Amino acid sequence: MNFFVVYISPAGSTRHAAQVIGDELAALGKKCSALDLGGSACRATRKTVLAALGSESCLFIGSPVYASHPVPEIMDFITSLPAGAGCCSAPFATWGAVTSGVALFEMAEALAVKGYPAIAAAKIVAEHSLLWQFDNPLGKGRPNADDDRRIRDMVKTVVAAVDAGTARPLSASALNYQPEALQKVMAGLVLSAVRKNLPQISVKRDLCTLCGDCVMACPAEAVQLAGGPVFNDCCIACYNCLRACPEHALQADFSKMEAGLAQRVKDFGEACETVVYLP
Ligand SMILES: Cc1cc2nc3c(=O)[nH]c(=O)nc-3n(C[C@H](O)[C@H](O)[C@H](O)COP(=O)(O)O)c2cc1C
Repeated sequence: MNFFVVYISPAGSTRHAAQVIGDELAALGKKCSALDLGGSACRATRKTVLAALGSESCLFIGSPVYASHPVPEIMDFITSLPAGAGCCSAPFATWGAVTSGVALFEMAEALAVKGYPAIAAAKIVAEHSLLWQFDNPLGKGRPNADDDRRIRDMVKTVVAAVDAGTARPLSASALNYQPEALQKVMAGLVLSAVRKNLPQISVKRDLCTLCGDCVMACPAEAVQLAGGPVFNDCCIACYNCLRACPEHALQADFSKMEAGLAQRVKDFGEACETVVYLP
């Protein structure tokens, strides 16, 4: 079995989880190919990884939860997978202590369609990436050592099952854990629409030096320079551009974010826990 770790991670938490997975695979003597879908070397590596996938592959695939869903790049990658023969997967999602939504369920469903049934999955609590300007962000300090231990235990279980030839898919309902009424609400949340209600980015062209840091920081190839940064529809609202700008030429007002998200934590009522799902 060949092992792969594919992820996207605008603010770094999903990358951290992916690294823990890669390190544990190495500790267990397994080689793995890693692919950061938001990284600058992504295009060439993506081709190589896709060519290597398809038979006898075990794919760990990770996304942040954005508006209750995986980010579009991850779902696009799953759609582009070659049909799997003798393959399996372990989707993982980092979430900012508001709701893990239907991200794992949607990833697992799409992976099964392509012939990569999920034999494990994990929702991992992480610092909420929309609250980086606040002192006490939701999920502060997560993933922590205990979260990492749970991730490593998942990897150990996956490798043991694969090596023994006893890997079984998760039941169809295992990742469908949101209450039915919330599933409907979540299904209606589409990132492109939600984005319009998030703090809008304003460009202060007089401060912009055209350094291109915003272009480099964008994991979705959504920023170009044309006399200043301009955004296309691929924007996933990660605000990496704004964080990366050394001149503060990109600005947005996050002052209402903390209270708004605190209300959503109450609405969703999901326990702030890292959970590993096994058959
Ligand atoms: C646009 C946007 C939407 C988000 N939506 C959710 C959400 O629905 N539920 C949640 O718990 N966290 C949400 N988060 C927080 C991220 O899921 C969380 O911080 C994640 O760990 C970020 O991963 P990264 O550090 O790999 O980028 C959102 C963050 C952003 C930027």
